[in-house]
Amino acid sequence: MTQSTVNSSPAHTTKTVRKDNWWLEPASIALGFTLFIIYATFRAFENNYYEINQYLSPFYSPKIILEFWKFSPAILVLWIPAGFRATCYYYRKAYYRSYFMDPPACGVGHGGGSSYCGETTFPFVLQNLHRYFFYMAALVVLWLWKDAFDSLFFQGQFTFSILSLVMFVNVVLLSNYTFGCHAYRHLVGGKLDCFSCTKASQTKHKVWQFVSKLNEHHMFWAWMSLFSVAFTDFYIRQVASGAYSPMRIF
Ligand code: FES
Repeated sequence: MTQSTVNSSPAHTTKTVRKDNWWLEPASIALGFTLFIIYATFRAFENNYYEINQYLSPFYSPKIILEFWKFSPAILVLWIPAGFRATCYYYRKAYYRSYFMDPPACGVGHGGGSSYCGETTFPFVLQNLHRYFFYMAALVVLWLWKDAFDSLFFQGQFTFSILSLVMFVNVVLLSNYTFGCHAYRHLVGGKLDCFSCTKASQTKHKVWQFVSKLNEHHMFWAWMSLFSVAFTDFYIRQVASGAYSPMRIF
């Protein structure tokens, strides 16, 4: 689509001939995002109840303690997953529709002005940073795997609890979201003319097929991992504050 075609769209209101409840999906997404953002912001600034024994909240991991930093250590980490999700192809579609109404749904006029120019100008041109956020987010997810395994040991003793299980489920969901990323799919399978010519390209093909399977359900993993990371943090908060027990199984 050319620039002039994009700019010539006549609909600048949410007018539509659709008779279905088209607004339900963008409204639900806006509600879900808003609740998550409020909770994550509260937790990032709370700077308390994020760690107990071998359990560390994913909002605060990896834990970075700097002498000069007087604020919550979560702020030193959360910009990575926040930037990763904010520039994710799925989330972009979702919040352009739900928050900017640009447009809010298929076949519905957009609610913004007439100066739409895609992602070619500031600040939307920054969406191109997504691949770099992917590299950093992948490292954070690998660290969360370490946290999940660390949760199995307390004072050198193997211990397994419901909370460990929650941490493992969380990191599996986060991995499925992160490694189903479009940018990662291009990284492993792009720029190849032949998938079968060499051993290395055959291996790349296998990885690409696996990433493609995850990528098919990218929206699902995006939401599941969003819920799970908030729930895992909430569970650890409750345990750290003494409200819940980690429910040790053995
Ligand atoms: S496209 Fe969604 S995480 Fe990269």
